[in-house]
Amino acid sequence: MSESAHGRRIVLHNRLEERESPFRLAEDARRGLTAETRTMPPKYFYDDRGSRLFEAITRLPEYYQTRAEREILERHADAIVARIRPGVLVEFGSGAAEKTRALLDAMRSAGTLEGYAPLDVSREASQRAAEALIRDYPDLRVEGVIGDFERPHHLPFPGRRRLLAFLGSTIGNFERERSIAFLAGAAAEMSPADGFLIGFDLVKDADTLERAYDDAAGVTAAFNLNLLRVMNRELGADFDLAGFRHRALYDASLQRIEMHLVSTRDQTVHIPAIDLTVQFAEGESIRTELSHKYTRASVDALLRRSGLALCDWFTDERQRFALALARLP
Ligand SMILES: C[S@@+](CC[C@H](N)C(=O)[O-])C[C@H]1O[C@@H](n2cnc3c(N)ncnc32)[C@H](O)[C@@H]1O
Repeated sequence: MSESAHGRRIVLHNRLEERESPFRLAEDARRGLTAETRTMPPKYFYDDRGSRLFEAITRLPEYYQTRAEREILERHADAIVARIRPGVLVEFGSGAAEKTRALLDAMRSAGTLEGYAPLDVSREASQRAAEALIRDYPDLRVEGVIGDFERPHHLPFPGRRRLLAFLGSTIGNFERERSIAFLAGAAAEMSPADGFLIGFDLVKDADTLERAYDDAAGVTAAFNLNLLRVMNRELGADFDLAGFRHRALYDASLQRIEMHLVSTRDQTVHIPAIDLTVQFAEGESIRTELSHKYTRASVDALLRRSGLALCDWFTDERQRFALALARLP
Protein backbone atom coordinates (compact mmCIF):
# COMPACT_ATOMS: atom_id res chain seq x y z
CA MET A 1 0.00 0.00 0.00
CA SER A 2 1.40 3.38 -0.90
CA GLU A 3 0.42 6.47 0.95
CA SER A 4 0.49 10.15 0.16
CA ALA A 5 0.91 12.29 3.22
CA HIS A 6 0.36 16.01 3.53
CA GLY A 7 1.72 17.09 6.86
CA ARG A 8 0.28 14.42 9.11
CA ARG A 9 -3.30 15.38 8.53
CA ILE A 10 -3.96 13.81 5.13
CA VAL A 11 -3.29 10.15 4.43
CA LEU A 12 -4.64 8.68 1.22
CA HIS A 13 -4.08 4.93 0.95
CA ASN A 14 -3.65 4.00 -2.67
CA ARG A 15 -5.43 0.74 -3.39
CA LEU A 16 -5.37 1.18 -7.18
CA GLU A 17 -1.79 0.13 -7.77
CA GLU A 18 -1.68 -3.11 -5.87
CA ARG A 19 -0.80 -6.16 -7.95
CA GLU A 20 -4.45 -7.20 -7.93
CA SER A 21 -5.50 -3.77 -9.17
CA PRO A 22 -9.24 -3.16 -8.97
CA PHE A 23 -8.90 -0.60 -11.71
CA ARG A 24 -8.88 -3.04 -14.55
CA LEU A 25 -9.68 -0.91 -17.54
CA ALA A 26 -8.27 -3.36 -20.09
CA GLU A 27 -10.20 -6.32 -18.70
CA ASP A 28 -13.41 -4.31 -18.31
CA ALA A 29 -13.07 -2.92 -21.85
CA ARG A 30 -12.63 -6.40 -23.30
CA ARG A 31 -15.61 -7.77 -21.39
CA GLY A 32 -17.83 -4.72 -21.96
CA LEU A 33 -17.11 -4.11 -25.63
CA THR A 34 -17.47 -7.74 -26.70
CA ALA A 35 -20.78 -8.30 -24.85
CA GLU A 36 -24.09 -8.38 -26.73
CA THR A 37 -25.12 -5.08 -25.14
CA ARG A 38 -21.90 -3.06 -25.20
CA THR A 39 -21.26 -1.41 -21.84
CA MET A 40 -18.46 0.26 -19.89
CA PRO A 41 -18.42 0.83 -16.11
CA PRO A 42 -18.93 4.51 -15.22
CA LYS A 43 -15.93 4.61 -12.87
CA TYR A 44 -13.71 5.16 -15.91
CA PHE A 45 -15.20 8.60 -16.55
CA TYR A 46 -13.37 9.98 -13.56
CA ASP A 47 -9.81 10.81 -14.54
CA ASP A 48 -8.81 14.36 -13.60
CA ARG A 49 -10.65 15.84 -16.61
CA GLY A 50 -13.74 13.70 -16.00
CA SER A 51 -13.88 14.65 -12.30
CA ARG A 52 -13.71 18.33 -13.22
CA LEU A 53 -16.43 17.85 -15.84
CA PHE A 54 -18.62 16.15 -13.24
CA GLU A 55 -18.09 19.11 -10.90
CA ALA A 56 -19.22 21.39 -13.75
CA ILE A 57 -22.32 19.21 -14.23
CA THR A 58 -23.28 19.75 -10.59
CA ARG A 59 -23.49 23.50 -11.27
CA LEU A 60 -25.70 23.22 -14.40
CA PRO A 61 -29.23 24.64 -14.28
CA GLU A 62 -30.68 21.31 -15.50
CA TYR A 63 -28.84 19.21 -12.88
CA TYR A 64 -31.22 19.74 -9.95
CA GLN A 65 -29.85 16.76 -7.99
CA THR A 66 -26.92 18.55 -6.35
CA ARG A 67 -28.97 21.59 -5.32
CA ALA A 68 -31.80 19.43 -3.98
CA GLU A 69 -29.43 17.24 -1.97
CA ARG A 70 -27.60 20.29 -0.62
CA GLU A 71 -30.94 21.79 0.45
CA ILE A 72 -31.75 18.61 2.41
CA LEU A 73 -28.31 18.47 4.02
CA GLU A 74 -28.37 22.11 5.04
CA ARG A 75 -31.77 21.68 6.63
CA HIS A 76 -31.31 18.28 8.30
CA ALA A 77 -27.57 17.67 8.92
CA ASP A 78 -27.87 18.67 12.60
CA ALA A 79 -30.72 16.22 13.17
CA ILE A 80 -28.86 13.42 11.37
CA VAL A 81 -25.72 14.02 13.44
CA ALA A 82 -27.73 14.30 16.68
CA ARG A 83 -29.20 10.90 15.95
CA ILE A 84 -25.88 9.07 15.30
CA ARG A 85 -23.29 11.27 17.11
CA PRO A 86 -20.52 10.09 14.75
CA GLY A 87 -16.84 10.82 15.37
CA VAL A 88 -15.94 9.88 11.82
CA LEU A 89 -17.60 10.49 8.47
CA VAL A 90 -16.86 7.78 5.88
CA GLU A 91 -17.86 8.81 2.38
CA PHE A 92 -18.09 6.54 -0.67
CA GLY A 93 -17.57 8.27 -4.04
CA SER A 94 -16.67 11.49 -2.22
CA GLY A 95 -15.38 13.42 -5.28
CA ALA A 96 -15.03 17.13 -4.52
CA ALA A 97 -16.71 16.59 -1.10
CA GLU A 98 -18.52 19.91 -1.25
CA LYS A 99 -21.92 18.93 0.14
CA THR A 100 -20.04 16.85 2.69
CA ARG A 101 -19.23 20.07 4.48
CA ALA A 102 -22.80 20.35 5.78
CA LEU A 103 -22.26 17.06 7.65
CA LEU A 104 -18.78 18.01 8.86
CA ASP A 105 -20.14 21.37 10.10
CA ALA A 106 -22.89 19.62 12.01
CA MET A 107 -20.37 17.19 13.55
CA ARG A 108 -18.12 20.08 14.52
CA SER A 109 -21.03 21.97 16.13
CA ALA A 110 -22.01 18.84 18.03
CA GLY A 111 -18.41 18.51 19.22
CA THR A 112 -18.01 14.98 17.82
CA LEU A 113 -15.85 15.58 14.72
CA GLU A 114 -12.55 13.62 14.67
CA GLY A 115 -11.96 12.34 11.18
CA TYR A 116 -13.09 12.10 7.61
CA ALA A 117 -12.54 9.02 5.44
CA PRO A 118 -13.20 9.62 1.73
CA LEU A 119 -13.18 6.62 -0.61
CA ASP A 120 -12.99 7.45 -4.31
CA VAL A 121 -11.45 6.13 -7.48
CA SER A 122 -10.21 9.60 -8.51
CA ARG A 123 -6.84 10.38 -7.01
CA GLU A 124 -6.84 13.99 -8.23
CA ALA A 125 -10.32 14.83 -6.96
CA SER A 126 -9.59 13.19 -3.58
CA GLN A 127 -6.31 15.05 -3.13
CA ARG A 128 -7.88 18.41 -4.02
CA ALA A 129 -10.84 17.80 -1.73
CA ALA A 130 -8.66 16.71 1.20
CA GLU A 131 -6.40 19.77 0.90
CA ALA A 132 -9.39 22.13 0.82
CA LEU A 133 -10.93 20.41 3.85
CA ILE A 134 -7.87 20.58 6.11
CA ARG A 135 -7.56 24.29 5.31
CA ASP A 136 -11.11 24.91 6.48
CA TYR A 137 -11.28 22.38 9.36
CA PRO A 138 -8.06 22.95 11.32
CA ASP A 139 -8.50 19.96 13.65
CA LEU A 140 -9.70 17.48 11.04
CA ARG A 141 -7.75 14.32 10.17
CA VAL A 142 -8.40 12.97 6.68
CA GLU A 143 -7.57 9.31 6.16
CA GLY A 144 -8.98 8.09 2.90
CA VAL A 145 -8.71 5.41 0.27
CA ILE A 146 -8.12 5.80 -3.46
CA GLY A 147 -9.84 2.71 -4.73
CA ASP A 148 -12.92 0.99 -6.01
CA PHE A 149 -15.83 1.08 -3.59
CA GLU A 150 -17.10 -2.19 -5.03
CA ARG A 151 -14.08 -3.95 -3.55
CA PRO A 152 -13.66 -4.81 0.15
CA HIS A 153 -13.11 -1.48 1.83
CA HIS A 154 -11.00 -1.95 5.01
CA LEU A 155 -12.40 1.36 6.17
CA PRO A 156 -10.08 3.67 8.11
CA PHE A 157 -10.80 4.67 11.72
CA PRO A 158 -11.97 1.21 12.87
CA GLY A 159 -13.64 1.15 16.26
CA ARG A 160 -14.96 4.73 16.00
CA ARG A 161 -18.65 5.58 15.81
CA ARG A 162 -19.21 6.30 12.14
CA LEU A 163 -21.64 7.90 9.79
CA LEU A 164 -21.28 6.34 6.35
CA ALA A 165 -22.42 8.51 3.46
CA PHE A 166 -23.08 7.77 -0.21
CA LEU A 167 -24.24 11.04 -1.71
CA GLY A 168 -24.95 12.30 -5.22
CA SER A 169 -27.32 9.41 -6.08
CA THR A 170 -24.23 7.45 -7.13
CA ILE A 171 -26.01 4.35 -5.81
CA GLY A 172 -28.31 4.69 -8.84
CA ASN A 173 -25.39 3.82 -11.13
CA PHE A 174 -25.39 0.19 -9.97
CA GLU A 175 -27.52 -2.51 -11.54
CA ARG A 176 -30.23 -3.34 -8.96
CA GLU A 177 -28.57 -6.55 -7.74
CA ARG A 178 -25.19 -4.87 -7.42
CA SER A 179 -26.68 -2.10 -5.32
CA ILE A 180 -27.86 -4.77 -2.89
CA ALA A 181 -24.41 -6.38 -2.84
CA PHE A 182 -22.79 -2.99 -2.24
CA LEU A 183 -25.13 -2.03 0.60
CA ALA A 184 -24.87 -5.49 2.18
CA GLY A 185 -21.06 -5.17 2.08
CA ALA A 186 -21.23 -1.81 3.84
CA ALA A 187 -23.77 -3.18 6.35
CA ALA A 188 -21.33 -5.99 7.19
CA GLU A 189 -18.78 -3.35 8.27
CA MET A 190 -21.26 -1.36 10.37
CA SER A 191 -21.77 -1.63 14.09
CA PRO A 192 -25.23 -1.05 15.60
CA ALA A 193 -24.29 2.50 16.60
CA ASP A 194 -23.33 3.53 13.05
CA GLY A 195 -25.59 5.18 10.50
CA PHE A 196 -25.60 5.13 6.71
CA LEU A 197 -26.87 8.18 4.82
CA ILE A 198 -27.69 7.51 1.17
CA GLY A 199 -28.80 9.95 -1.53
CA PHE A 200 -31.53 8.76 -3.94
CA ASP A 201 -32.85 10.61 -6.96
CA LEU A 202 -36.64 10.22 -7.03
CA VAL A 203 -38.88 9.08 -9.91
CA LYS A 204 -40.25 12.06 -11.84
CA ASP A 205 -41.27 13.10 -15.34
CA ALA A 206 -39.07 11.93 -18.22
CA ASP A 207 -38.49 15.43 -19.55
CA THR A 208 -36.92 16.76 -16.33
CA LEU A 209 -34.78 13.63 -16.02
CA GLU A 210 -33.57 13.61 -19.60
CA ARG A 211 -32.66 17.31 -19.47
CA ALA A 212 -30.63 16.66 -16.30
CA TYR A 213 -28.53 14.16 -18.27
CA ASP A 214 -28.43 16.06 -21.57
CA ASP A 215 -27.85 19.73 -20.77
CA ALA A 216 -28.05 22.52 -23.30
CA ALA A 217 -24.39 23.52 -22.82
CA GLY A 218 -23.17 20.00 -23.70
CA VAL A 219 -21.19 19.43 -20.49
CA THR A 220 -22.72 15.98 -19.89
CA ALA A 221 -21.97 15.09 -23.51
CA ALA A 222 -18.31 16.04 -22.96
CA PHE A 223 -18.27 14.02 -19.72
CA ASN A 224 -19.68 10.97 -21.53
CA LEU A 225 -17.25 11.28 -24.45
CA ASN A 226 -14.37 11.57 -21.95
CA LEU A 227 -14.61 7.80 -21.56
CA LEU A 228 -13.38 7.41 -25.15
CA ARG A 229 -10.47 9.77 -24.44
CA VAL A 230 -9.55 7.62 -21.41
CA MET A 231 -9.54 4.47 -23.57
CA ASN A 232 -7.51 6.20 -26.27
CA ARG A 233 -4.92 7.32 -23.72
CA GLU A 234 -4.75 4.22 -21.51
CA LEU A 235 -5.29 1.47 -24.09
CA GLY A 236 -3.93 3.13 -27.23
CA ALA A 237 -7.40 2.95 -28.81
CA ASP A 238 -8.32 5.05 -31.86
CA PHE A 239 -11.88 6.12 -31.01
CA ASP A 240 -12.74 9.18 -33.14
CA LEU A 241 -14.67 11.39 -30.70
CA ALA A 242 -16.41 13.11 -33.61
CA GLY A 243 -17.84 9.73 -34.65
CA PHE A 244 -19.91 9.29 -31.46
CA ARG A 245 -22.69 11.33 -29.92
CA HIS A 246 -24.10 11.46 -26.41
CA ARG A 247 -27.63 10.19 -25.77
CA ALA A 248 -29.62 10.07 -22.49
CA LEU A 249 -32.97 8.26 -22.37
CA TYR A 250 -35.39 7.62 -19.49
CA ASP A 251 -36.84 4.10 -19.41
CA ALA A 252 -39.99 4.52 -17.31
CA SER A 253 -40.60 0.77 -16.99
CA LEU A 254 -37.15 0.24 -15.44
CA GLN A 255 -37.19 3.65 -13.71
CA ARG A 256 -33.76 4.52 -14.95
CA ILE A 257 -31.81 6.87 -17.19
CA GLU A 258 -29.45 5.20 -19.64
CA MET A 259 -26.52 7.12 -21.07
CA HIS A 260 -25.09 5.92 -24.36
CA LEU A 261 -22.36 6.85 -26.80
CA VAL A 262 -23.94 6.32 -30.21
CA SER A 263 -21.88 5.73 -33.33
CA THR A 264 -22.81 8.33 -35.97
CA ARG A 265 -21.53 6.16 -38.86
CA ASP A 266 -20.26 2.69 -39.69
CA GLN A 267 -16.75 2.52 -38.27
CA THR A 268 -14.00 0.26 -36.93
CA VAL A 269 -12.13 0.96 -33.70
CA HIS A 270 -8.83 -0.66 -32.77
CA ILE A 271 -7.79 -1.20 -29.16
CA PRO A 272 -4.17 -2.43 -29.32
CA ALA A 273 -3.66 -2.95 -25.56
CA ILE A 274 -6.24 -5.74 -25.62
CA ASP A 275 -5.72 -6.73 -29.25
CA LEU A 276 -9.36 -5.99 -30.04
CA THR A 277 -11.09 -4.58 -33.12
CA VAL A 278 -14.67 -3.41 -32.64
CA GLN A 279 -17.09 -2.73 -35.52
CA PHE A 280 -19.81 -0.16 -34.97
CA ALA A 281 -22.70 0.22 -37.43
CA GLU A 282 -24.32 3.65 -37.55
CA GLY A 283 -26.69 3.93 -34.55
CA GLU A 284 -24.98 1.20 -32.46
CA SER A 285 -23.92 2.34 -29.03
CA ILE A 286 -21.94 1.71 -25.87
CA ARG A 287 -24.05 2.03 -22.72
CA THR A 288 -21.89 4.02 -20.33
CA GLU A 289 -24.09 4.78 -17.33
CA LEU A 290 -27.31 3.76 -15.63
CA SER A 291 -28.97 6.07 -13.17
CA HIS A 292 -31.85 4.44 -11.32
CA LYS A 293 -34.65 6.50 -9.84
CA TYR A 294 -36.46 5.57 -6.63
CA THR A 295 -39.55 5.97 -4.51
CA ARG A 296 -39.70 5.70 -0.73
CA ALA A 297 -41.20 2.22 -1.12
CA SER A 298 -38.44 1.04 -3.47
CA VAL A 299 -35.74 2.43 -1.14
CA ASP A 300 -37.36 0.71 1.84
CA ALA A 301 -37.39 -2.60 -0.07
CA LEU A 302 -33.79 -2.15 -1.28
CA LEU A 303 -32.53 -1.49 2.25
CA ARG A 304 -34.38 -4.48 3.70
CA ARG A 305 -32.96 -6.79 1.03
CA SER A 306 -29.48 -5.43 1.90
CA GLY A 307 -29.81 -6.14 5.63
CA LEU A 308 -30.47 -2.52 6.59
CA ALA A 309 -33.49 -0.68 7.96
CA LEU A 310 -34.75 2.74 6.90
CA CYS A 311 -34.87 4.86 10.04
CA ASP A 312 -35.35 8.35 8.60
CA TRP A 313 -36.29 9.89 5.27
CA PHE A 314 -35.64 13.47 4.23
CA THR A 315 -36.63 15.15 0.96
CA ASP A 316 -36.20 18.60 -0.52
CA GLU A 317 -39.22 20.84 -0.60
CA ARG A 318 -40.09 19.88 -4.18
CA GLN A 319 -39.69 16.14 -3.48
CA ARG A 320 -37.11 15.69 -6.22
CA PHE A 321 -34.43 13.97 -4.15
CA ALA A 322 -34.23 12.03 -0.89
CA LEU A 323 -31.69 11.19 1.76
CA ALA A 324 -32.35 7.92 3.54
CA LEU A 325 -30.78 7.33 6.95
CA ALA A 326 -30.32 3.60 7.47
CA ARG A 327 -29.06 1.52 10.36
CA LEU A 328 -28.71 -2.13 11.16
CA PRO A 329 -32.16 -3.51 12.02
C1 LIG B 1 -21.82 10.98 -9.33
S1 LIG B 1 -20.23 11.43 -8.68
C2 LIG B 1 -20.70 12.04 -7.06
C3 LIG B 1 -19.65 12.90 -6.42
C4 LIG B 1 -20.07 13.55 -5.09
N1 LIG B 1 -20.27 12.54 -4.06
C5 LIG B 1 -21.34 14.35 -5.26
O1 LIG B 1 -22.33 14.00 -4.65
O2 LIG B 1 -21.32 15.34 -5.99
C6 LIG B 1 -19.54 9.84 -8.38
C7 LIG B 1 -18.23 9.81 -7.61
O3 LIG B 1 -17.91 8.45 -7.32
C8 LIG B 1 -16.60 8.14 -7.78
N2 LIG B 1 -16.66 6.75 -8.27
C9 LIG B 1 -17.36 6.28 -9.33
N3 LIG B 1 -17.23 4.94 -9.42
C10 LIG B 1 -16.43 4.56 -8.38
C11 LIG B 1 -15.93 3.31 -7.92
N4 LIG B 1 -16.25 2.17 -8.53
N5 LIG B 1 -15.16 3.30 -6.80
C12 LIG B 1 -14.83 4.46 -6.16
N6 LIG B 1 -15.28 5.68 -6.55
C13 LIG B 1 -16.06 5.73 -7.65
C14 LIG B 1 -16.26 9.16 -8.84
O4 LIG B 1 -14.88 9.41 -8.94
C15 LIG B 1 -17.05 10.39 -8.36
O5 LIG B 1 -16.29 11.18 -7.47
